Amino acid sequence: MRGIYALAAAAVALCVRASDVAVLGKGNFSEWVGAQELALVEFYAPWCGHCQALAPHYEAAATALKGEGVALAKVDCTVEDALCGENGVGGFPTLKVMRHGSASPYGGPRKTEGIIEYMQRQKLPAVLNVSATTIDDFKSKGRFVLLALAKEDDKESRDAIAKYGNEQRDSVIVGVSDDVLLASEVGVTMPGLVAFRKFDEPQVGYSASASLTYDAIDAFVAVESIPLIDEITPDNFAKYVQTGLPLGYYFVNPESSSRELEIRQLADTARAHRGKLNIVWIDGVKFANHAKALNLKGESWPAFAIQNMQTGFKYPLELGKNPTKEVADYVQRFVEGKVPASVKSAPIPASQPESVIEVVADEFDKYVFQDDKDVLVEFYAPWCGHCKRLAPTYSLLADMYARDSSASSKVQVVKMDATANDVPPSAGIQLEGFPTIVLKPAGKDSRTLVDYSGDRSLESLVDFIATSGTHKARVTVESESVTHDEL
Ligand SMILES: *[C@@H]1O[C@H](CO)[C@@H](O)[C@H](O)[C@H]1NC(C)=O
Ligand SMILES: *[C@@H]1O[C@H](CO)[C@@H](O)[C@H](O)[C@H]1NC(C)=O
Repeated sequence: MRGIYALAAAAVALCVRASDVAVLGKGNFSEWVGAQELALVEFYAPWCGHCQALAPHYEAAATALKGEGVALAKVDCTVEDALCGENGVGGFPTLKVMRHGSASPYGGPRKTEGIIEYMQRQKLPAVLNVSATTIDDFKSKGRFVLLALAKEDDKESRDAIAKYGNEQRDSVIVGVSDDVLLASEVGVTMPGLVAFRKFDEPQVGYSASASLTYDAIDAFVAVESIPLIDEITPDNFAKYVQTGLPLGYYFVNPESSSRELEIRQLADTARAHRGKLNIVWIDGVKFANHAKALNLKGESWPAFAIQNMQTGFKYPLELGKNPTKEVADYVQRFVEGKVPASVKSAPIPASQPESVIEVVADEFDKYVFQDDKDVLVEFYAPWCGHCKRLAPTYSLLADMYARDSSASSKVQVVKMDATANDVPPSAGIQLEGFPTIVLKPAGKDSRTLVDYSGDRSLESLVDFIATSGTHKARVTVESESVTHDEL
């Protein structure tokens, strides 16, 4: 019984406690958000579990932020569906930061403290005014803060800084100063940049030769905001992708006693190639599958692999007795462009009994770059449903060209299992889904594969070969041979 009374009392307490979250509807939404300098609005549905989990945090954050001129509101989309539609709400909860009614996505956490901090940061100007007296306070604002040094009348640099501060306000704390003494203290000439960090060298500078540009600021931050060598995790992975630089993974055995020493030694390699490639370490035991995906055997640690984040190419290195030295040499050769990409290949088939040639990576160039033929290539995955449904049509297509006395010497139909084989660099494409169908037009000079974007019917494929191929070869589609599975 006591339990029930306690519950009832708690329920009453919840009911009487006034909420600091404003409830908005069609009739007052525009007026309310328009009047707020800074607000956070949650679009939710009462049945949504993530919304329910957020609710107490949202309430507490609203109360904490009330005194700071930041207002929190919510819209129940089961009641206000038109309003939610107008605001482009596609899932629940959707959170938006509103400045005088103009919205931007909320990119912060969903716990009380995180919401408070994020919104407090939104309140700061996009670019802080820093002087000799406020510099220490500025430095303490984060693990990585960026100070731009530019004269007040250097409009071009100032505009670039303002634009950068505005666009990156969620990710980087940016300050600006025109203090010449401060600039000389940190060792840069104006216009320039200095990053204050709580990792690696605490301070790094950059002096621009002319005005600062948005791209120069962006490039400086991309390089300097990343520690020399860090553990890669789901939280920081995106940061590495954003840099666009190749990423070297040092796979360690977490139990190994030499692990820490090796990581320290690798920092020298990372420093030597900073800005050209990033190096991280990762738990090889836990992420053995990732090692395999990078074409390592995935059996012994340490091991090392570089991934080109733009092309997806992989450069695996099994390590011996002197791992950090071996990595250093390998990275050096990699940046000099002397390491070929590793291309995984299934064994070469003993025979090709079908009209559709089953191509493996080791024979990709032989079949796809035949030059005297227009070659249609399907990249598939054995588990992909669309691929399975396409298979009979694709076989029939190959049969039709193989049987046609005129077309058989001009057109070849091939396929490749892209889970057992890497797409070789010579193909010059990255797969984005399965099946992917491309055509290599005949001729030595046509090295570019043409994407197929039509439906998966026999007629459309025949049309594609006839219009995109060099030979313009066409076969006739008999009505009885048409398969009606076009999805
Ligand atoms: C806005 O209107 C709704 C009804 O649609 C009402 O429940 C709510 O209290 C109003 N909110 C404010 C802040 O006036
Ligand atoms: C920044 O500081 C300068 C003086 O150093 C001052 O003139 C300017 O108004 C300040 N700007 C802001 C936004 O506080």
